[in-house]
Amino acid sequence: METQIDYWEAHALLEWQIELGAAEAISETPVNRYEIPEKAPKPAAAAPGAPQAFVPEKTEDASEIALKLAQSAGSLEALREALEGFELCDLKRGARNVVFSDGNPKARVMIVGEAPGRDEDIKGKPFVGREGQLLDKMFAAIGLDRTSPDSEHALYITNPIPWRPPENRDPSPAEIAMLKPFLIRHIELADPDVIVLMGNWACTALLGRAGITRLRGQWQKVLGKPAMPMMHPTYLLRTPLAKREAWADLLDIQAKLKS
Ligand code: URA
Repeated sequence: METQIDYWEAHALLEWQIELGAAEAISETPVNRYEIPEKAPKPAAAAPGAPQAFVPEKTEDASEIALKLAQSAGSLEALREALEGFELCDLKRGARNVVFSDGNPKARVMIVGEAPGRDEDIKGKPFVGREGQLLDKMFAAIGLDRTSPDSEHALYITNPIPWRPPENRDPSPAEIAMLKPFLIRHIELADPDVIVLMGNWACTALLGRAGITRLRGQWQKVLGKPAMPMMHPTYLLRTPLAKREAWADLLDIQAKLKS
């Protein structure tokens, strides 16, 4: 029997869902993504240099499996496929797309951000929302552009977390650690001259510590490469005064590229 509800009842139900955190209407009927059966991991041998089909041993934990998958990827395409086939991180089940990277993989500068938000989840690319617009403006000011085909003027962008966390919650330290081998391999394969650590999660994943307000502006080493921690554009949008420090960090990056 069909249940009829009137306008005001429907209105109240909608308000209640918004209060619970529903941010957008996706379809007429709800989908419980936690009940969707997990897909079997894709054999990652399709792309040239891709790792061979991988059968995990029962004793291995998710981090060990991530490490083996990541290390056996011989190219960025193979790494993306390995990540797409990795089914052991719960974040994947709530996300629409894997957000792997954007920009020119040959760029001298590689930016490591935090995690995809709503816009990135929809488009499958990092930094395409408001923060992304600010990020593009910031780097344009020192002559770098993610659409540039010239490695000298290009940018390459990724995140330590490739799936949008539900309700944009912070990823747990266990999730960051589990996905770290993919990030490390990503940096090894892209082989930039300079890494930019945008915000605390990038610092947690790659330096093993947070505290961006103290770390920013101080050159660090990641895989033997110079790495500059910077305030995340989300913070800069809320705190315009901090843009002065971000500008100083950008000039430092520019100087490092010339040195
Ligand atoms: N913030 C990030 O750190 N990464 C994104 O991809 C989008 C917003």
